[in-house]
Amino acid sequence: MERTIAIIKPDAVRGHHVGEIIAAVEAQGLTIEAMEFMRLTKEQARGFYSVHEGKHFFERLLDYMTSGPIVAMVLSGDDAITRWRSLMGPTNPESAGPETLRGRFGESLTFNAVHGSDASETASYEMSYLFGGRYLNGLRR
Ligand code: RTP
Ligand code: MG
Repeated sequence: MERTIAIIKPDAVRGHHVGEIIAAVEAQGLTIEAMEFMRLTKEQARGFYSVHEGKHFFERLLDYMTSGPIVAMVLSGDDAITRWRSLMGPTNPESAGPETLRGRFGESLTFNAVHGSDASETASYEMSYLFGGRYLNGLRR
């Protein structure tokens, strides 16, 4: 069993795709352990995406991620990290298949609808960053 962070990004929330994305998560057999509607501040977004600090797209990414509310989730299941990333599709929606969430709902390389942790260390960091001290599946972590 593995855990990962999934985020429905501001463009997908604005586009009313929350329900379809949650349905796709569950159809994939992934379990939702925690879910929260939240709005990140610039500083929170900067910390969350700190691996990208200094890249040319960093400020644009911060503006995007703070442009509206997001839905953050903890997902669990066998190979949850890889399975959620496959369901998301590649970073650029232009190369994402129609069966993927970025293929269905992504608008551009920046506005790409969803986020997923890329490795188990990243998942742990992101989980405590977004859900530290709160309830996961009924148990306080
Ligand atoms: P994420 O972290 O959001 O799940 O996306 P990812 O792993 O597929 O892609 P990553 O390289 O981690 O990039 C993080 C987010 O930054 C935006 N981005 N813009 N060249 C660009 O303009 C560019 N590259 C990336 C996207 O929103 C991407 O998801
Ligand atoms: Mg990433």
